[in-house]
Amino acid sequence: MKIKNLKTKIKNLKRQFEQETADRQALNIKYLGKKGLFNQLAKEIKTVPAADRKQAGKLLNQLKQELTAQLRQKQTKTQSSWIDLTIPGKKPKVGHLHPISQAMTEITQIFTEIGFTRVRYPEVDWDWYAFESLNMPPDHPARDEWETFFVDLPDTTKDIAYDPAKPRKRHPDQAGGQLVLTPHTSNGQVREMERLNSQPPIRMINIARCYRRQQDATHTQMFHQFEGLVVDQGINIQHLKGTLDYFAHQFYGPGCQSRLRPFHFRFTEPSFEVDFSCHLCQGTGQIKKGKKSTKCRFCKSGWHEVGGAGMVHPNVLQAGGIDPDKYTGFAFGWGIERTYTLRKGLNIDDIRLLYSADLRFLQQF
Ligand code: DAH
Repeated sequence: MKIKNLKTKIKNLKRQFEQETADRQALNIKYLGKKGLFNQLAKEIKTVPAADRKQAGKLLNQLKQELTAQLRQKQTKTQSSWIDLTIPGKKPKVGHLHPISQAMTEITQIFTEIGFTRVRYPEVDWDWYAFESLNMPPDHPARDEWETFFVDLPDTTKDIAYDPAKPRKRHPDQAGGQLVLTPHTSNGQVREMERLNSQPPIRMINIARCYRRQQDATHTQMFHQFEGLVVDQGINIQHLKGTLDYFAHQFYGPGCQSRLRPFHFRFTEPSFEVDFSCHLCQGTGQIKKGKKSTKCRFCKSGWHEVGGAGMVHPNVLQAGGIDPDKYTGFAFGWGIERTYTLRKGLNIDDIRLLYSADLRFLQQF
């Protein structure tokens, strides 16, 4: 084949390609596939006289580049004019509430159904509400249990705009001592008594962030607690136990039971630690496998400790302006993270995962 003929053939192939309307994939096979029109033409190079072969190779190379480039353009053209209604749609990504927010909503619902009111109090609060009003005088060793973050107030004497001739008034709350990041939601107890002008009945559920100097697989520096407080005439331990059982059934299922163990807190007397029965072994501590039974690995003893409770100490009622001879009350407080992760099927062994912002983890809830 003469080089002149080859040039004509290349020209014709280009023209043919330009008029094509088929989609990109089909054109790719037809023109640039193994047995495609380009390769068929390229094979003919053998018949070109040796002296012209170099030029022929160049022309064919050029042709291939042009076809490839035009093919790319064709794709965008055909795509915009071609809609396949049978292709499944693209699902937009849908977010959801964080599992702890979900738990908070659920816990609020459970308690509001039996007449509790959800309240919120400051998460940076005065020592008075976090400790002293709860029967923990300054320097009392019981305070050590709450590994507290203390907050230094800015020194107003260093303030540029500070004018010694006009000293600033102290904030009335400053009588409350030092500021702390609330290490527990119990700071809401006396605050709630004050909100209601020391007039029971009180049925409070206080859910808030808490902060402690601790960090490991079962603790985070920031976590959440919920605190219940009931004050009225004639309130006794049976009311406390009934409320705990009610919560256990609602949150963990009808088979779950609560258990009180004697303990000590400064702000309750008597005080208890509260356990819930394990859903894996139904509180027996044993898992049956055929005739054999082994120790339950989730709880080891049949029960999970979740928090504290007790009958409100008379000094606490007094701190809130309530007469302890006339009124009694109970209170309880738990970590939401722990309460939630003990739920059936949620064996989260490292609580820090909750705050890792890892979508692979969070999308499971
Ligand atoms: N505030 C306690 C803590 O953080 C828990 C607690 C115990 C709360 C007994 C209460 C209570 O209301 O009565 O460990």
